[in-house]
Amino acid sequence: MKPVSYMTAAMCVLSFGPGVLPAMADSVKKEMTGQQLAFDNKKGNCLGCHTAPTDPAAVTQANIGPPLIVISQRYPDKAKLRTQIWDATVANPKTVMPPFGRHSILTEQEIDKVVDYVFGL
Ligand code: HEC
Repeated sequence: MKPVSYMTAAMCVLSFGPGVLPAMADSVKKEMTGQQLAFDNKKGNCLGCHTAPTDPAAVTQANIGPPLIVISQRYPDKAKLRTQIWDATVANPKTVMPPFGRHSILTEQEIDKVVDYVFGL
């Protein structure tokens, strides 16, 4: 790439102005993927308790919950998987797993994304 192209690119970025870039960052944040929601320690924080051995990006030593693996075979009924994530106390009233839906830790839409991600593990 010639230096002049860098200049053009820089001018494009600058022409958005200061107000636009934070707004763009916000909209990116709102559209987190299921994987990002599962990993983010202010959202699902699933890696705080679970490993996800088939996802190389899931770096954690956690072993409080069982490894999230072959989920689609163990939970062929996606609704049951969703219930586990929405409110783990349904299956086990004494669980330490937070009731992500019942306590509004994740929105319904965010839970759907996490369910899709976990279903694929
Ligand atoms: C504070 C620890 C903790 C966190 C955080 C947590 N879990 Fe769990 N999870 C557990 C424990 C412990 C179990 C074992 C079942 C029980 O306690 O009833 C479990 C069970 C599960 C199961 C059932 C697994 C199986 O083998 O049947 C799934 C699926 C699951 N968790 C998904 C998630 C997802 C997705 C997240 C993030 C949105 C999450 N968990 C966050 C502790 C946690």
